[in-house]
Amino acid sequence: MGLDQVPTADRDGSCLKRPSNLGRVTDLVPSLDALHALHPPQQPVYDDPEAVEAVLSKLRRLPPLVFAGECDRLKGAIAEAAAGRSFVLQGGDCAETFDSVTAQSIRNRLRVLLSMAVVLTYAAEVPIVKIGRIAGQFAKPRSSETETRDGVTLPAYRGDAVNGFGFTAADRRPDPDRLLRVYNASAATLNLVRAFVQGGFADLRTMHSWNADFVRNAHVSARYEQLTAEIDRALAFMVACGVDSGAFRTVDFYASHEALLIDYEHALTRIDSRTAQPYNVGGHLLWIGERTRDLKGAHVEFMRHLRNPLGLKIGPTAKPSDVVALADALDPDHEPGRLTVISRMGASKVRDLLPPIVTAMEETGRKVCWVCDPMHGNTFASETGYKTRSFDDVTGELDGFFDVHAGLGTWPGGVHIELTGDDVTECVGGVGEVSESDLSHRYETVCDPRLNRQQSLELAFMVADRLSALEHPRSVPDPETFDF
Ligand code: PEP
Ligand code: CO
Repeated sequence: MGLDQVPTADRDGSCLKRPSNLGRVTDLVPSLDALHALHPPQQPVYDDPEAVEAVLSKLRRLPPLVFAGECDRLKGAIAEAAAGRSFVLQGGDCAETFDSVTAQSIRNRLRVLLSMAVVLTYAAEVPIVKIGRIAGQFAKPRSSETETRDGVTLPAYRGDAVNGFGFTAADRRPDPDRLLRVYNASAATLNLVRAFVQGGFADLRTMHSWNADFVRNAHVSARYEQLTAEIDRALAFMVACGVDSGAFRTVDFYASHEALLIDYEHALTRIDSRTAQPYNVGGHLLWIGERTRDLKGAHVEFMRHLRNPLGLKIGPTAKPSDVVALADALDPDHEPGRLTVISRMGASKVRDLLPPIVTAMEETGRKVCWVCDPMHGNTFASETGYKTRSFDDVTGELDGFFDVHAGLGTWPGGVHIELTGDDVTECVGGVGEVSESDLSHRYETVCDPRLNRQQSLELAFMVADRLSALEHPRSVPDPETFDF
């Protein structure tokens, strides 16, 4: 690891212990006070500012969760996707919860993402950049400040990073100590993810067991079993030929979350001793959400100074000129892999709204990674009162996204999915034919509805079919660097 990132600043940038050749965070990043002066939206209002300050000064001293070099490596991998040589799979919970920091929950989420990655790699013959919405996705933007139930109005739930999901005044009070719990929960999650992906869980030769408990005869499981059998045969062939690379046993897996809470994200920013540049060390990739992408706002002002790869979510109100201006602010040097634009237009709008944006960006000469989030533009309330999404709308937006890029000659760089490894019933449709009346069986999300494991794999096969139909370079992988 090396002492790459050391804590370097308090609120106004005066220094803690640090190597003398390194600058302060606030020499290179706006101070927290300057950011608050921009009135960032979607921030909790705490009732005890001193308690907040005490938490932030603890966070500033805690060790990094990720290393700057890993962020650079991910940037390089995203640059490949932006250039049309690989594909990004980003997925995980809408909102992680402290209760879901268990071995089983983390394993299940990882398992579904790795299974999807194998499907995409093998069926489409494209290298996959694997990024979880994990180990930091604890804060949520909300469309309303409050929630009313049976005539009682309380502050809205803003994610476990801010307050509790329970509908009581005590639960809904924003509590700054939760920021330390976010750090600890993220550290514990990342620790297990690293152990799993490096320690044998991701070994391709065990993949037939990952989904062995699938319902028999379902179309998806049959296709998955066929694919694992083919991979087993291919691996056996390679081993027989003398190729038995460690690369079949481990994968690169990255962590991402929406950088929503300015206090937390600022406290997790460090100066990298290799480059003397500021990195957010709370996750590899951070994204700016649809509700906080104001060009002059605190989130853009803060994140444009970080050296991590960045995501930018854009919804149906984004104009081509807005996206170009945001790209200029966040990526003035047109750095390969720096910017991933995640569109979430809705199945009925993507064909109209995305092309002018892609065209305007292409005209500037920059190459960003275009990712489709087919979830957030397709949410509706079921007759039974559940927030849900239909699998057909999700695949419909993906189809639109692939069609738009095919029409413009640009590369569809990836997908961004809300999913879980458990067999929940939150989105309707798919081969399991979850109906509106099934939603109550296992509706467990605290925020947006997620695809379950079967729906996620079905989606992976659908994306693989679209990808494999595209013209793209198919190279023979180098066994030393091969990563499914
Ligand atoms: C999310 O990704 O959970 C989210 C809130 O998305 P968006 O910013 O696109 O609405
Ligand atoms: Co969501």
